[in-house]
Amino acid sequence: MRPAERVEMSSLNQSRPARHSCVVGLQWGDEGKGKIVDVLTADADVVVRYQGGANAGHTVQVEDQEYIFHLIPSGILKKDTACVIGNGVVIDPRALIAELDGLLEMGLDHEENILISDRAHVVLPYHSALDEAKESAGGDGKIGTTLRGIGPCYTDKASRVGIRMSEFVDPNGLRERLVHLGELKNRELEKLHGRDPIDPDVVFEEYSAYAERLRSRVCDATAFLHEQDARGAGILFEGAQGAMLDIDMGTYPYVTSSNTSFLGLGPGTGFSARKVGKVLGITKAYATRVGEGPFPSEMQEEAAASLREVGGEFGATTGRPRRCGWLDIVALRRAIQFGDVDAMVVTKLDVLDHLEEIKVAVSYKVDGAETDQYPASTECEVIPQYRSFPGWLESTTECRAFEDLPEKAREYLRFVADAAGCPIAIVSVGKERSQIVSLDPWLEPTPVEGD
Ligand code: IMP
Repeated sequence: MRPAERVEMSSLNQSRPARHSCVVGLQWGDEGKGKIVDVLTADADVVVRYQGGANAGHTVQVEDQEYIFHLIPSGILKKDTACVIGNGVVIDPRALIAELDGLLEMGLDHEENILISDRAHVVLPYHSALDEAKESAGGDGKIGTTLRGIGPCYTDKASRVGIRMSEFVDPNGLRERLVHLGELKNRELEKLHGRDPIDPDVVFEEYSAYAERLRSRVCDATAFLHEQDARGAGILFEGAQGAMLDIDMGTYPYVTSSNTSFLGLGPGTGFSARKVGKVLGITKAYATRVGEGPFPSEMQEEAAASLREVGGEFGATTGRPRRCGWLDIVALRRAIQFGDVDAMVVTKLDVLDHLEEIKVAVSYKVDGAETDQYPASTECEVIPQYRSFPGWLESTTECRAFEDLPEKAREYLRFVADAAGCPIAIVSVGKERSQIVSLDPWLEPTPVEGD
């Protein structure tokens, strides 16, 4: 290459602004993202949901008041934060309005802060009915979904027959669109599943009132995000569910129907993921999963029942008891890699306070062969190899600095950072906003020799 054509790589090395950040779950959902987003909202002007729908349940505890959000970004508790529901989200208008009414009842008149992408797809009663019909069909196809119509709505999006918010709130033609989609979906409901059809006129009666209420909130959210970026605002992107439920990278087919990881941010907002300076991945100090599907580090039911009780491990959306297990480093490392995670937040450390022994899955035997990679197939036999740690047997709920934590808890966290190869930025030790151990500097993994 001639000298004039050479580009100095160092000249390309100007770092991107860290003004925007993203919070994602690193496990199978329910990692406690709601609380962390709520805490981080203090520094954000805009909070954005970019995938999923009312299948999510983000819990935020403020003093003795518990808020559970399904569609509304967890940033809604701060008065002046714009809360955007991006185009990658599938919106059930009935669920959204119930949530808005719930906020009003709790004295939070923040509806004006909500902006809904005109490109987001609408979840209709046909979708929930199909979800339920497929799940109750029995056989091997059961996923254990939340029955919120998520899969069928994303299916319609990919099949290019879905209804988007821009069309939903357009009074001209909504009835025709509903009749058209209703015909398609009723055929499926009746012929494939032997279910009763759903009358599009009845749907229209109910849903046109929802459209009326939501109309003023619907906008070109992508343009809004770019405007906010240009004027120097800080944007916080909030993933729903967890990386191992990602449709491409998770435990397929036992996944949800969207890209739950950082990978979903760009397509779910029309805002470049390259502009996002920091990705925080949330993991519990142990693991849980709801629904069917592989969960290699799942505990025996007796131990799981006790952890479920202490950790309140019941679904925020469906109330289902969550399956409980030990932290799984193989799955965690993979989620960190494909999700480009900068630092972890370890939640619910306090739930382990009472345990004499804490285990961590550090590798697998897959069909007899040792590996540290997560297998693609959900059919193979996966036997986790554990490392055991002594419990600290004292309360961590009052700890606010790393040095306050019991030595054995610090050792556990150091091991997690080392084994996952990712720093820890925050540790959460209770439901309350204030029950946070913020690590400044981050707890970095011990450098490997030769690094
Ligand atoms: P769907 O998203 O309702 O289609 O469910 C697909 C799978 O994702 C099921 O195993 C659900 O239990 C799981 N899932 C969906 N949303 C959540 C969530 O917010 N937390 C945990 N699991 C979820």
